[in-house]
Order: sequence, then C-alpha cells, then structure tokens
Amino acid sequence: MWFEAKVPSNIAFLKYWGKRDAALQWPANDSLSMTLDGLATVTKVKVLSDHNLKSKGEHKFFFAGEEKYRDDPEGAKVFKFLDGLAQRFDFRGCLEIHTKNQFPTGCGIASSASGFGALTIAAIAAWTKSESLAELEQNGFSLSSLAQLARMGSGSACRSFWGGYVRWEAGENADLQRCQQALPSEHWALTDTVVLFSEAKKARSSSQAHLDAWSSPLFKVRLVELRSRLEAMHQALESRDMDRLGPLLETEALEMHAVMMSARPATYFFDHETADFLVWFREQRAKGLFKAYFTIDAGPNVHVIAEPGEQQAFLRCFSKDFSKYRYLSDCVGSGPQLGFSN
Ligand code: PMV
Repeated sequence: MWFEAKVPSNIAFLKYWGKRDAALQWPANDSLSMTLDGLATVTKVKVLSDHNLKSKGEHKFFFAGEEKYRDDPEGAKVFKFLDGLAQRFDFRGCLEIHTKNQFPTGCGIASSASGFGALTIAAIAAWTKSESLAELEQNGFSLSSLAQLARMGSGSACRSFWGGYVRWEAGENADLQRCQQALPSEHWALTDTVVLFSEAKKARSSSQAHLDAWSSPLFKVRLVELRSRLEAMHQALESRDMDRLGPLLETEALEMHAVMMSARPATYFFDHETADFLVWFREQRAKGLFKAYFTIDAGPNVHVIAEPGEQQAFLRCFSKDFSKYRYLSDCVGSGPQLGFSN
C-alpha cells in the first residue's frame, strides 16, 4: 500500500536566519511565513515487506524518477533523516520512496521545506499504516510533533504543516520551540509571484550560511529589532493592511541579505538581474502602476507579494519589461494532505 503526502513550500515574511544550536536545529529568532498552494512536493512511500532495516536492508529512494543513493549528495540528507526517524521510533521496515516537486526542479525555489515536510508525513504514515492526518494523530503523530521532526531535516519545513500564515517560535530553550498557525488562509488571499532569474545551484548552501550569521556585526542588532517587527507584521496581517505589511517585508528581506553580505565569509545571493529588477520594481510602484512588495529568500529570485488584483497589475508591467524571465504564480494555501492507494 502506498501512502502519498502533498506538502506545500512556504515563503518567510519574517526570516529564520541563524541558529542558536545547529545540532538541535534551534533558530536564533522567531519567524513568520505564508504557506503556499501549488508549489508543493508530492512524496509516495510504501514499506518493502521483504526488506528489514535490522538485517541491513536499505531504502529505495527516487527523486523525479531517478534513483538516489546514500552516498549521493542529494541522497545523503534523506537517508540520514530516515535513519534518525527509524532509530527514534524503532521503525524496522525499509521504504520505497518516490518524490517529485510540483514546480520545475533547479529553478531556484527552495524545495527543502516542502521536501522534508512530505517525506516526514509519507514515511511515518507508511511505517504506522496511517491513512489520513487524523489517523496519524491517533497513532501519536500530531501535526505539531511531525513539524518538530521535519525541522531536523530543514528548519523551515516545520512551517509547512499548517495552511495560511504560520509562526515558528524559538522559545527559551530548544525543546520549547513551537510552530503554529497564526491566521488561516481564508483570512487574507495573498499571492506570491516568484520571478526566476537564476536556475544555477547556490554558491554556498543555506545551512553553511546560517552558521556564518553570528559573524556579521549587524546580526545581534537585528535580533533585538525582530521582536517588535514580528508583532508589527502579525498585526498588519491581522488587519489585512498592505501599506503596513509591504514595507516590513522589504526591510526584512534586505536586512537578512545585509547580514549575509556582511558575514565572514560573506555570501552574496543577489545577481545583476536581482538588483536591476528591484530598481525597476520600486520605480514602477512609485508611479502607482501596482501595489506589490518583494521578499527574497536565500537565492537571487524575487517573490512578489500582492493581493490578487494587484498581482495582475504587476504581471502586466512585468510581461512588458521583463518578458525574457520566467515566473511562477502561486497564492496562500491550506497546508498538507495525506492519502493512500493500493
Ligand atoms: O530551512 P533552511 O535551513 O533551508 O533555511 C531557510 C532560510 C530562509 O529560507 C532564507 C528563510 C526562511 O525562514 O525560510
């Protein structure tokens, strides 16, 4: 029997950047994100009844149809993550796993959040024979506990377990961190248009760059500032106030990149195109052509956040001036799904 999870990616409005403890995946600060809808990973898993982990059996893992192994750069993190789950819960069966992203691969969209989210749900559903999220909960795996497990694969994955707008709070110690929905998707139908400038692999992985954050002279100042920024953002979302939310989104993204650029070693994720686009974008907005705001993750691509009518206005201008670049259009979504088939 196959267990299939679909878990969307999420875009951080207030970024998780820097860790207090890398081994425990304890973030330096609270973060707030919007769960996406169509940009998702679908992962299908079954237990291989004739292979047992205890008798040195091995999982079979396929990414976009291609088998990946324990020693592959793409496979290593997945096998290590599955080893951690099997050890902790004494799961014995080897798994066959097929995973694919519902967005073009290598397009510069961070797929680790949706990827580890879908792997966590589908693998544990297969091991515990849970046919729905409700059954997973009855078997001891609530969304909160699954989110905590997924976080060990990729920190931002824990925010993909709820739809709408989600807060991940760092807490007083690593065990007290928690993630929860701040507002449901129906509260405010925001859109995310991802403008793709580069499909190249990142020069420096975000896990490495996270660790460098503390060496930036700006980082400690940022952490103090973030408490009030988080509350201001939450209030802007609550009151659906784009005039307040938008500038906070942009300050936040630019500040995270300023930390990256002023760290030792420095990491530059912006391309020429990123910088050109931002200049154009601000000029067009100042002319009153659309009301949209940007955020940027650990990469050169830009996420444009807007209400649906304003997304259309933005796309009209974009298609005129930047027609050679691809974009992906998405919106706030309602969170993970789990199903099964024979
Ligand atoms: O979850 P990670 O280790 O891939 O880090 C995510 C970092 C950012 O995407 C830049 C910000 C965030 O909060 O998602």
